[in-house]
Amino acid sequence: MDANEIDYYSLGFNFIETKTMFISDYKNGEWDEGRLVPFGNFEISPAACILNYGQGIFEGMKALRTKKGEITLFRPEENAKRFNNSAERMLMPNYDTENFLKAIKRVVKANEEYIPPYDSNGALYIRPLMIGNGPIVGVKPAYEYKFIIFTVPVGPYFPEGFTGVDLEITKEYTRAAPGGTGAAKTCCNYAGSMLPAKLTKEKGFAQVIFLDAVNMEYIEEVGTANFFAMINGNLATPKSIGTILPGIIRKSIMILASKKLDLKVEERDISYKELFKDSCTEAFCSGTAAVITPIKSVVIDDNKRIFSEGEPGEITRKLYELLTGIQRLDIEDEFNWVVKV
Ligand code: COI
Repeated sequence: MDANEIDYYSLGFNFIETKTMFISDYKNGEWDEGRLVPFGNFEISPAACILNYGQGIFEGMKALRTKKGEITLFRPEENAKRFNNSAERMLMPNYDTENFLKAIKRVVKANEEYIPPYDSNGALYIRPLMIGNGPIVGVKPAYEYKFIIFTVPVGPYFPEGFTGVDLEITKEYTRAAPGGTGAAKTCCNYAGSMLPAKLTKEKGFAQVIFLDAVNMEYIEEVGTANFFAMINGNLATPKSIGTILPGIIRKSIMILASKKLDLKVEERDISYKELFKDSCTEAFCSGTAAVITPIKSVVIDDNKRIFSEGEPGEITRKLYELLTGIQRLDIEDEFNWVVKV
């Protein structure tokens, strides 16, 4: 789509084609140097490992426009690291961190005209992905891989934005089990979350909250984001025990909460029952796409807990302002998280 035809002030989280993507191919045990090409289809064998056995991983990143017109990325080396951790879990080749960062910058530069303006609050979402591309038939890793980076201008992930979302705690579906792939950003984790998301949306909820698969008691994640709650005056988030996606925004929020807001941060098991007590005063979810999205209410069976009716909690708002302020360089980047393109 022509960059001039986009209304950057009313973007949702929907696919819009941009001009250029990056592709690199892995054959005979090594990556080629990669190239920028026009966004478009490519051929793939019907026997490709990704199509048959789901051997695929991805990342989510954003390029933002600052008030001065600069372009920023947020902790991109963390995405490169997580990408390689996911690759290891899925028996896929690593992609050199330096080359990953260089390729990200090249794609962003090439699609610069699609970066939403500072005052629109939008972003150029960056999607790096790797797929097992070579033909196979037995269940084993592919011999060939494709690394792709494409971009999409986006607004808020949840249309509700910062007014907050109503979530349903599901006791029917789980996202990941110990020893599984929950900590890897693999395509399959998201495919499995689509049915519970569809069913809950039909009931009027924005997403589900998944509980741990062993006890069906402890909170793991919101469908596409990490979970936080203020409980007894402390900021609590589920312990990362291999079933939770190690969010980069999650990690940053934990630092901001302790270093800037002087809060005690607890990474621990959080029973969903705690959300229904008065000691739990705020809840929100976090992610690259979700940023910080307040949770207005949670429901399980016939029990509903309302946290806010439109006005997000104070800590949620402060963390949102700190995080987005640093990301757009409105606030000093004292942790050296921002990388300019
Ligand atoms: C992100 O927050 O970037 C994600 O990858 C979540 C979702 C869009 C799959």
